[in-house]
Order: sequence, then C-alpha cells, then structure tokens
Amino acid sequence: MVCCLALAANAVLGHIPLNEYHLAEPDAPQYYVSYSPSPRAGRDNSLERVTAVRQVMRGRGVDAYIVPTADPHNSAYIAPAHARREWLSGLRGSSGTVLVTETLALVWTDARYFTQFENEVNMTVFTLMRQGIDVSIQNWLVQNMPPYSVVGVDHTTYTRSSWNSLQNALTQVNVTLEATTDNLVDIARAAIGEPAPAIPNNPLIPLNVSFTGRRSSEKIAELLAQLPARGVSALVLTALDDVAYTLNIRGSDIPYNPVFFSYLVLRSDLQAPNNVILFWGNGVLPANITEHLSSEGTQIRVRPYDAIFTYLADMANELPIGSTVWLSQDGSHAIYSAVETNGTLNILATLNSPVALMKCIKNEVELKGFRSAHVKDGIAVVRAFRWLEEQVAAGANITEMDLSDKLQELRYEEEDSHGPSFSTIAGAGENGAMIHYSPSREGVQKVIRKEDMVLVDSGGQYKDGTTDLTRTRHMSASPTPEERRAFTLVMKGQIQLATTVFPRGTVGHTLESFARKYLWDVGLTYGHGTGHGIGHFLNVHEGPSWILSGPSATDPGLAAGMIMSNEPGYYEVGHYGIRHEDVVEIIVMNNSSDHPLAKGMVGDFGGIGALGFYTISLAPHQTACLNVSLLTDFEIEYLNDYHARVLATLGPVLKARELDDDYAWLERECAPIRSAAIGKSAPFLLVVFVSLWSYVSM
Ligand SMILES: *[C@@H]1O[C@H](CO)[C@@H](O)[C@H](O)[C@H]1NC(C)=O
Ligand SMILES: *[C@@H]1O[C@H](CO)[C@@H](O)[C@H](O)[C@H]1NC(C)=O
Ligand SMILES: *[C@@H]1O[C@H](CO)[C@@H](O)[C@H](O)[C@H]1NC(C)=O
Ligand SMILES: *[C@@H]1O[C@H](CO)[C@@H](O)[C@H](O)[C@H]1NC(C)=O
Ligand SMILES: *[C@@H]1O[C@H](CO)[C@@H](O)[C@H](O)[C@H]1NC(C)=O
Ligand SMILES: *[C@@H]1O[C@H](CO)[C@@H](O)[C@H](O)[C@H]1NC(C)=O
Ligand SMILES: *[C@@H]1O[C@H](CO)[C@@H](O)[C@H](O)[C@H]1NC(C)=O
Ligand SMILES: *[C@@H]1O[C@H](CO)[C@@H](O)[C@H](O)[C@H]1NC(C)=O
Repeated sequence: MVCCLALAANAVLGHIPLNEYHLAEPDAPQYYVSYSPSPRAGRDNSLERVTAVRQVMRGRGVDAYIVPTADPHNSAYIAPAHARREWLSGLRGSSGTVLVTETLALVWTDARYFTQFENEVNMTVFTLMRQGIDVSIQNWLVQNMPPYSVVGVDHTTYTRSSWNSLQNALTQVNVTLEATTDNLVDIARAAIGEPAPAIPNNPLIPLNVSFTGRRSSEKIAELLAQLPARGVSALVLTALDDVAYTLNIRGSDIPYNPVFFSYLVLRSDLQAPNNVILFWGNGVLPANITEHLSSEGTQIRVRPYDAIFTYLADMANELPIGSTVWLSQDGSHAIYSAVETNGTLNILATLNSPVALMKCIKNEVELKGFRSAHVKDGIAVVRAFRWLEEQVAAGANITEMDLSDKLQELRYEEEDSHGPSFSTIAGAGENGAMIHYSPSREGVQKVIRKEDMVLVDSGGQYKDGTTDLTRTRHMSASPTPEERRAFTLVMKGQIQLATTVFPRGTVGHTLESFARKYLWDVGLTYGHGTGHGIGHFLNVHEGPSWILSGPSATDPGLAAGMIMSNEPGYYEVGHYGIRHEDVVEIIVMNNSSDHPLAKGMVGDFGGIGALGFYTISLAPHQTACLNVSLLTDFEIEYLNDYHARVLATLGPVLKARELDDDYAWLERECAPIRSAAIGKSAPFLLVVFVSLWSYVSM
C-alpha cells in the first residue's frame, strides 16, 4: 500500500509522536496509513469537547495538553480507543497532533490533510498549524508557554526519545513537562457522556507451525540466549507485532493488523515458566491458546495487560543494582519510566528490538506461504478487475466503494483469508492523484467512468502471508498521451528497481532512485517512498528496512528472505494517479537464480554476496496503456516473462474453478507485447530477413 506523501517530508515535528517514529529523519517520506477508527466527530459540538478537556486540565494544573495520534505500542494503525486526537478535533486521517491551552486549540498536521482540515474541523474552535510551514509544536511551546507553566502529555503516547527532545527544550525556558498517567481526553470524554470505546480484547488466533515454520519455544530460546550475550537481565517487548510473532499468536484488536494488545517480558534471571511473562487481557488465556503454546513447548506466565507498569517497577526492586534492561527505542516514556522507578537499573535502548530483526527475515515456510498467499490474492484481484471492466463497459454505475467491497468479498472466498490488510484505495480519475485517498461510505460516492484511469491499491491478510498490490487500469484502455507516458515511465522505474542487483547489506534508500530514474529523466517525480517491508500475516508496513528517498536510521541493510514492496508512482493533481506496486522477495543472486540478470553474474561483490528481487505479486499490468516505443527489448521481455508466469500460475486455478470468463480475461491481459519497432508481423519478417542475410553472406 501506499505510501505516501513526501510533500510533508520537511514537515516533521520537533518531537515525534509515537506512530510517526520512522519519520525521525527529516527527509524520510511518510508512509500513509489510511483508517477511519471512529465516526466523524461533529463540528457543531467541537467547543463542548475542547471545553471539557480544558476543565480537566484546570483540575490537574495543566496549562497546555498535547494529544498526539498514538497508542502505547507505537503502532502505525491505532484502535478507536486510542483515537483521541480524532475525537477531539474531528480531523480524520493518519496524522495530527492537537495542543489545547486555556485559550487556544491548535492542530498540527501535514500537507496531506490541509484540505481535509477545512472540510472536517470546526475552524472557529481549532486553528490549523501546517507542519513544515508553520512553527513546530515544540518551538511553539518554547515561545509561548510562560515560565513555570506546565505542559502535560499522556506518557504512554510518547516515545522516550520524543519525550527527551521536548523536555530538554522546555527545561531551557523553565516549563515543566508532566506525564499525566490518566489520559485527560478520556476523562473529558467520560464527563460529557461520550466515553472512549474500551481497549479491545478480541479472541486470539493460534498460528500453527505449518504457517510460521518455527515454534514459539525456538524463537523464545533464541531471544533468551541473546540476553546474557548483551549483558542484560530482561528484555521488554512493547511492539504488538513483536509479541504476536514471538508467540505465534494473532489477534484483531487493531483494524487491518492482526495483533492483540499485550506486552512480553523475557528474563534471564528466572527459570521457566517464570522467565516469559505475557501481559494480556485479564491475565487468563483461553484454553485453545494455552494448548497451542504447550504444543509448541512454550511455558509462560500470564498477567493482566494493565499490570505491566507495576510489574516493571517491582522488577526494578528485585534485580541487583546495576542490572540492565533491554528496550527498543520506540518504547513509550511510560515503559521507560517504570523500569527506572528504583533508579538502580541501566537501560539498553536499541534502534530495533531483537524480534524486529528476526521477523524481517522470513523463513522457508513463511516465504512459501507468502507465495501461496499471492496466488490466492491474484485470483481475487483478477476476478475483481474482470468484473469491474465488464460492469463499466456495460454502463453500470460502479462506485469506488463498490469496487472496494468486491475486492473484499472475493478475497474472503480464498482459503485462510482474514480480511483486508489495509483500507482499499480505489481512486478513479482525479481521486487517483490523492495519494492518501480511500473511498468511504460517508463521503461522496464516485462512479467509475469509462474514461477514467483507476488506481487500485489493496491487500489481504491470509494465515500464510500478507499482500499489498497496486494496479492502475484505464477503463476503456484509451489513456491520454500524458497518462500513457506516465504509465510507461512508472513501469520502467518499477522494472529498473525490480531487476537491480546489489551487495548484501545495502540499505534500502540507496536503491530508491533507480525507481525514479525515468521520471527524473523528463523532470517528473512522485511524493512518497518506494518500498516498505511487509509482515507475515502481520502489519502491512513492517520495519526495519525501507526503500525511501532519505536514510532510515533503523535499516540494518537488505538481506535474503526479506519481503518488500516496489511501488513507484506518478500523480497529476486534479487529473489522474498512477502507481504500479508489487511485493518482492529478496533472493540470493548467482548464475542459477531465477532472475533476468542471473546468466551474466560473474561475481558476488568479492564474497559479500549478491542479492536481487523476485516479484511474488501475480496480477497483470494493463499493457494496453503502455507506450511500447518507450520500452527497451529488455523491459519488453521482462514484462512478457512476468505475464507468462502470471498466466501459468493463476490460469490453472481459474480453470479448475470453472471461472472461464475470468480465465479468458486473464489470458487476454497476459498476452505478450511486441516491440513497436518490429510490429505484429515481426516473426515472419525476421525469418525472411535472416534467410536473405544468410543467402547474401554465403
Ligand atoms: C463551530 O463551533 C461554534 C462554536 O461552538 C459554533 O457556533 C458553530 O456552529 C460551529 N460550526 C459548525 C460548522 O458546526
Ligand atoms: C529559569 O529559572 C532560572 C532559575 O530560577 C532563572 O535564573 C532563569 O532566568 C529562568 N529562565 C527563564 C527563561 O525564565
Ligand atoms: C499443525 O502443523 C503440523 C505440522 O505441519 C500438522 O501436523 C498439524 O496437523 C497442524 N495442526 C493443526 C491444528 O492444524
Ligand atoms: C529499590 O529497591 C530496593 C531493594 O528492593 C529497595 O530497598 C528500595 O526501597 C527501592 N527504592 C525505590 C526508590 O523504590
Ligand atoms: C447511473 O447514474 C446516472 C446518474 O447518476 C443515471 O442517469 C443512470 O441512469 C444510471 N445508470 C444505471 C445503469 O443505473
Ligand atoms: C510514444 O512515445 C513516442 C516517443 O516519445 C511518441 O512520439 C509517441 O507519440 C508516443 N505514442 C503514444 C501513442 O503516445
Ligand atoms: C545460487 O544460490 C542459491 C541460493 O543461495 C544456492 O542454493 C545455489 O547453490 C547457488 N548456485 C551456485 C551455482 O552458486
Ligand atoms: C556458475 O557459477 C559457478 C560457481 O561460481 C561456476 O562453477 C559455474 O561454472 C557457473 N556457471 C555458468 C553457466 O556460468
């Protein structure tokens, strides 16, 4: 999915709200997260909401209160229970921070949401602060808060590094940054009869070793072995996907992300089962999960989710003075503070948790699962596109939302489907140019017309893998010359990146401009990143490696077995949007690899190891939208080979299911393209030419 807007790249706040952690580098483009966690807050009662928050602030002696978009786990997507900024301001979308003072209510957001702000927010109550243009929230506080005033923030919604940065700045001007242990917005919500939804605690899903390839006991043993090696007594895992991956359990507490609210602590100073402690729900696991864990040889203790803070404080008292606790840098200030309660422990804060580094390299079973998930997903996508084009051609009124629903319905027909991996982006015509666009049931229902270019970015969660695919199709295969050129240049960039060979350990951002080269050649570009890692039946955006235009501090370097997206685009605001996105597996390159450059490989970078990408997404590109004369023979062959593989893989499945119309559509879409220079009668002419030449040169 989607990436998105780098226009806001210089717009990073002086502090970094938890869920924007990976934007820590000022030049890193943002990956867009589309979600709509709660019904739009009405504009008519905005003042009532803000007044309720001010009242709670006064009671606590807080002069300014920061409401970021974040949950206690630095999740990229948050549950409605944590969507406080949205409730308060009415601004939907993925990014924004509200600051409430006695007299002002300010909303910082980035360029993606400036227009949305005007549409959704009551502007007599709230003032827009444009990130990257107006003063940052940190500088605003420094300049405007009087000495000895108090700025408050819920310390579960701020990472330690964000906290430190803000606290240092405020200390300079004698302003106190205070951690409010209760969330003041939640208190205000309850006070005016709009209580926050409860933190979800949905049923857990055991994930068998036939999907994960590795028992939880093996993962835990590997982690426990790292503790003495690092000289630490305990490891605290705070990211929800880290816990889910380690225990081979999934959930559904956050939309699109099959995770569950929890923490996991591993201790080297205790014996099993006391050395692995899960904080979840009320502290009692259901029988199927206990059985699942014991079938994997895993013994754990379970405590209530909320008990993490007192547990860490108690642990600080139990561990010998000078012991070290391992946290990842994206842990919340609240978690760090709990570990520091006694003041006798050291903290090892790493850029990535050890689980983040384990789970980004997929094992053979996970890779096999990814490929199988992409076959199923390809079937659903082919069926949806065939349906769409037939309907549009017949003059039916198909809206973007109808297409989104159809994709979801067809994905659910596939085995082990667990719904969409993010909110479908189906943008017809000018909507395709809004990179963060997602049709919604509440908004205007746009009908897809025959003359529209439609950008469809969607993905599915399956027990064996997670998918993320974008195809751009013109409903009557007759794009304008500008659309055709952009469609082709984006395709050339995607092929260029897809076929790049690079040394093992190369960081993603050094490859990024390959995808932009052909657009850059003519003075065009796109405002989002080009690739993100993808979790295995986990988050569709998974660190620590990214393919962005700027460096990413967390990137350990690309390695075989990683799964990434390859998604260049081009957007003509007000007219159309184009994005071609595939999921790729990182493979070892040598002269026998399944890669167009394999045969030419004569080295492996002096023993470092050569890597390349192998595209696992299976869905035809609309070759009718290409300007073939802009393609090289290599690119034509690449596309023809890809389409032959798509047909050979998906075709038999469609036939076996007697989906004959879908098969016919796929066969047509996968037909090879020929070089424009040679034309349709090429094989015949070539034979004649070769024969003549042989004759003449004899
Ligand atoms: C915005 O809030 C003010 C103050 O409560 C109210 O008078 C006005 O009607 C609201 N505007 C909209 C568009 O609801
Ligand atoms: C901060 O407090 C210190 C000590 O009370 C004082 O010397 C200094 O002038 C104050 N600075 C500001 C900016 O108020
Ligand atoms: C789990 O996977 C194992 C190994 O593939 C298999 O033997 C077993 O039947 C599976 N169990 C379930 C409940 O699917
Ligand atoms: C720190 O732990 C020690 C040992 O349990 C205890 O005696 C002391 O009171 C604790 N200090 C604080 C500040 O909690
Ligand atoms: C589609 O909608 C248009 C106007 O919105 C209407 O005129 C037309 O009859 C509709 N067509 C069908 C097939 O429903
Ligand atoms: C294809 O590109 C060539 C070279 O830029 C251009 O001359 C030609 O008009 C384009 N064809 C179409 C159909 O857009
Ligand atoms: C090429 O790489 C693959 C994957 O690492 C390996 O299995 C194979 O043996 C290698 N082949 C050669 C000729 O080095
Ligand atoms: C492929 O590489 C291997 C190992 O370097 C070498 O022995 C072999 O001759 C190469 N094969 C070809 C066809 O070049």
